[in-house]
Amino acid sequence: MMGNPPYKQWLADHPGITLLPFNEAAADEIVINGIDGHNALNTLTAIADALSGKVLIDYAVPYIYGAEMEHPWPTPWGTMPKLDPYDTDSLGEQIQRALPDVKVVKSFVTQEQETVVNPKAIGGGDHTVFVAGEHADAKRTATELLTAYGWSDVLDLGGIVSARGMEMYAGMHSAIGLALGLGNHFGVKVVR
Ligand SMILES: NC(=O)c1ccc[n+]([C@@H]2O[C@H](COP(=O)([O-])OP(=O)(O)OC[C@H]3O[C@@H](n4cnc5c(N)ncnc54)[C@H](OP(=O)(O)O)[C@@H]3O)[C@@H](O)[C@H]2O)c1
Repeated sequence: MMGNPPYKQWLADHPGITLLPFNEAAADEIVINGIDGHNALNTLTAIADALSGKVLIDYAVPYIYGAEMEHPWPTPWGTMPKLDPYDTDSLGEQIQRALPDVKVVKSFVTQEQETVVNPKAIGGGDHTVFVAGEHADAKRTATELLTAYGWSDVLDLGGIVSARGMEMYAGMHSAIGLALGLGNHFGVKVVR
């Protein structure tokens, strides 16, 4: 739909990437959750033991997709997914509650994948990325990773409750992306 190559082809072009079952992928000290948001909680809960004590950077937006849903939006495909939960809860909080031994950091989620890992591709990197979570050491780890990617403005939004705002930003991100045209990357900058 977005013009991405088939995964098999992408994997062949990126020999440094290894595909592993979830519990084996969780063996590293830092784990990034890029699972479809609606299915992330069940999938992560099933590998709770493997994740115990780890830093889990949660990138997922808890979207429910369904062409039959009535969420008209000027996307090329005519609808927008439904966000669930929102307002009074977030996926980041749900994961932290379900996995109390895991240090969840909500981050990355305000950017597209290409620019999370290459922020300097936009405005020379002069824009802002966010972290939120209950564990200061885990937020430091996430910030170090972001710095290694090239980020210079990492704003700590406090506790995991801030995941609500980060996930709800997804609608605004889509609106800006559609206004600029698909494929045009952008960032947000907090001016202060
Ligand atoms: N794309 C972006 O720029 C962007 C921006 C912000 C946040 N995010 C978030 O990042 C995550 C990945 O985004 P994406 O664009 O890469 O989406 P995607 O292409 O749809 O990838 C979703 C991933 O979730 C897996 N998955 C789906 N259902 C599953 C289930 N029941 N159990 C286990 N795994 C399941 C899929 O595995 P299979 O391939 O095997 O089906 C796939 O690897 C999403 O949560 C999205 O909200 C993405």
